[in-house]
Amino acid sequence: MAALTIKDENIQSLTGKVIVLTGGSSGIGLATTKLLLELGASVVSGDINPLPIEHDRLTFVKTNVKQWSDLVSLFDHAKERHGRINHAFANAGVSGRADYLEDKLDESGKLLEPNHEALDVNLKAVVNTAYLGLHHLRHQDPAGGSIVLTASATCFQRFRIADYTTAKHGVLGFMRGMVPNLEGSGLPLRINSLAPGLTETGMVPKGVVEAAGHATQSPDVVARSVALLMADETYQGKLIYSDQGKYWEMEDAMLKTVADIMGAGDDSIMEKIMKMAAQRGPSGGSLPGSSN
Ligand SMILES: NC(=O)c1ccc[n+]([C@@H]2O[C@H](COP(=O)([O-])OP(=O)(O)OC[C@H]3O[C@@H](n4cnc5c(N)ncnc54)[C@H](O)[C@@H]3O)[C@@H](O)[C@H]2O)c1
Repeated sequence: MAALTIKDENIQSLTGKVIVLTGGSSGIGLATTKLLLELGASVVSGDINPLPIEHDRLTFVKTNVKQWSDLVSLFDHAKERHGRINHAFANAGVSGRADYLEDKLDESGKLLEPNHEALDVNLKAVVNTAYLGLHHLRHQDPAGGSIVLTASATCFQRFRIADYTTAKHGVLGFMRGMVPNLEGSGLPLRINSLAPGLTETGMVPKGVVEAAGHATQSPDVVARSVALLMADETYQGKLIYSDQGKYWEMEDAMLKTVADIMGAGDDSIMEKIMKMAAQRGPSGGSLPGSSN
């Protein structure tokens, strides 16, 4: 695990950049919006709730991230106003909603499907936001830019809010799945994630955490990790954990632990299989993840 220091000079290059983000009306998203504006960037913010601030380089688009058409409009607004998107930050989130050991029954006594709100907002909508972001980054001229995903420190721990933890592990999984694809695309596209520890926001009230004997950090701390992931063009597939004002890059250490046991891993085999299948052509048989 590598401890990081984020200096002002590491994030200055965001001046003049255009960032689309979700969940910008509160907490980490709002702190990030303020930092980006201070750095001279333009922000197009999509949230289900109104923005509490105004700025001439800030556009608000009312967006429910669960609605695909809302997300499409959010990115279209950014493209129409600025002509280009440099970074997309998929951040909107909710706390856990499901209790998988609770029996919720319908009128006839049959078990009801669990509440999937946390999976829908924290995972499905994050994938949709990233997918739309990549679409715009790929098709602009010149192509390029980055995606930043809000995972959580719960993406690499046992954490008892199981639906939330499932979604956040899924966010990390999406990033891990996309890195080889982006590297193989030959385009200057990057994807990175943040893993905040307990941070004082609308979701995590300071008093509740402090009553349990743990200090929270300010969302301003997390905002700087978002800015670094956007600004540093050497970052690809990184995961920045922040807690109580300090930063660590986690992903390299976690992947090294796995590689020490597995070697190059299954993706190197999948790469060879896919190359062989491409040489054989469409009749070459189906692969996991292919639509054949
Ligand atoms: N606060 C923490 O300790 C902590 C730790 C790790 C990760 N996170 C993650 O940080 C992200 C931001 O959360 P936060 O802590 O700043 O909480 P927050 O409640 O202050 O902010 C969440 C924002 O998301 C918006 N949002 C929720 N559902 C939405 C929807 N359907 N469509 C559009 N916008 C929606 C809310 O209106 C709000 O502005 C989340 O993904 C959360 O899981 C938070």
